[in-house]
Amino acid sequence: MRGLSGLNALVTGGASGIGLATAWLLAACDADVAVLDLDPSAVPEPLRGYRADVSDDDMVRTAVDAAASDLSGLDIVVNNAGIGAVGTVEDGDEGQWHRVFDVNVMGVVRTTRAALPHLRASAHAAVVNVCSIAATAGLPQRALYSASKGALQSLTLAMAADHVREGIRVNCVNPGTVDTPWVGRLLDQAADPAAERAALNARQPLGRLVSADEVAAAIVYLASPAAASVTGAALAVDGGMQGL
Ligand code: NAI
Repeated sequence: MRGLSGLNALVTGGASGIGLATAWLLAACDADVAVLDLDPSAVPEPLRGYRADVSDDDMVRTAVDAAASDLSGLDIVVNNAGIGAVGTVEDGDEGQWHRVFDVNVMGVVRTTRAALPHLRASAHAAVVNVCSIAATAGLPQRALYSASKGALQSLTLAMAADHVREGIRVNCVNPGTVDTPWVGRLLDQAADPAAERAALNARQPLGRLVSADEVAAAIVYLASPAAASVTGAALAVDGGMQGL
């Protein structure tokens, strides 16, 4: 797939995991790619790194405008930066609830808000939000994380409606458990990491974790002109968790 020549993309959280796989695939499809991350120092060429925390509006605006200027415009925004939280509504203090919503929901608001003036100038504008099957699946011990991703899925639908007449498409992907450094960190904290990995595999009907490359392929499809009539969609890439 080399159909993204001439398009410019920005990927938040693009220095690791799903974001890095997506940035690489976009570049392999001939897009010019900017990565916005807390620490983009290790992002390899030809990806361009921009340092920003999506919970800081000034940093986001500065990074998005710099990327749009360096790339000569923006056509694709992948809102991927996100953080996790484990527990029920009894766990975590209010600060943690605010922090997760600030990154997982408001981070998407800030990045998209900063990118919209650039997207309006594109003939192929697309936003893809990295949501989660936790938005709809009712997973145990994920109350805060699920609530934030549920809000993000609703936000995706609202943004799709708001911007469809401007020619800006907005979709989301809902991954199941993906084999990324994030999940590696969760497993490292488990009493028995091998047993925990087996449990995560078993939770998915396909019997294995989703790969970051598989999620990236879905994101790049939604971002590409091949999906020109797709907006307001939530594409599950979850090994069957949602439907089976
Ligand atoms: P990861 O931890 O491997 O990578 C996340 C990247 O986001 C890192 O480079 C990190 O520096 C960056 N980041 C985190 N907070 C940031 C902030 N405030 N500002 C800017 N950058 C920030 O995580 P992974 O697994 O690749 O997850 C990426 C997205 O996929 C997240 O939104 C997550 O909720 C979602 N997701 C992940 C699943 C999984 O099982 N790994 C499943 C479903 C959704």
